[in-house]
Amino acid sequence: MNEFSMNCMGLSIVSEIEKLFDNNRRWSQRLLETDPHFFSRLSSLQSPKFLWIGCSDSRVPANQILGLAPGEVFVHRNVANLVVNTDMNCLSVIQYAVEILKIEHIIVCGHYRCGGVQAACGCDQLGLIDNWLRDIKNTYNQNRVELEKIGDKTLRADRLCELNVLSQVRNVCHTAIVQNAWAQGRKLAVHGLIYSLNDGLLQDLAVQVTGLEQLEEIYRIGAKSK
Ligand code: CO
Repeated sequence: MNEFSMNCMGLSIVSEIEKLFDNNRRWSQRLLETDPHFFSRLSSLQSPKFLWIGCSDSRVPANQILGLAPGEVFVHRNVANLVVNTDMNCLSVIQYAVEILKIEHIIVCGHYRCGGVQAACGCDQLGLIDNWLRDIKNTYNQNRVELEKIGDKTLRADRLCELNVLSQVRNVCHTAIVQNAWAQGRKLAVHGLIYSLNDGLLQDLAVQVTGLEQLEEIYRIGAKSK
């Protein structure tokens, strides 16, 4: 690579970023045209009703899928939408959302053809991320009989995407944060959804947890009512 081609590459990277600033200016302008007070209102307060825990996949953007404006959904995303009980990042998001923002719905949303879930179905060593994906391997192992009846590997991974959501819904419910909110009589529902990249549609996995009594007893952890 000579100096000239390096400069060209540098320029194209700069113009890619500049394009983002252009997009941003146009977006802000468009919003202000329809609502001149939009940003001044939002900058003083956010009061979303929903917390979205989804995959980092660029094709699964929470606001757009849900048709919600800025300010309407609090978002946490990571590879394969996991809620791991040692993950300070995710737990801090849940705590802030539940205790400070007082959101009423926690949505765990997976998606079919999830690269993280597909990777967890295989036996290749991928590096650091193997530690992250192990939680999905545990879900695979707990459901191995059902999953291995599915001959097609893609469909098997898709079913694991669903099972992974159900498992993460349970993980959300097993936190003291959520259980304390229920003990205080707060209205708080935890939902499991899955998104299809093929048609852009969400499907409800028909789990909706709204109270301690829906949890297996061993996971109820002396919720504090104050
Ligand atoms: Co994914």
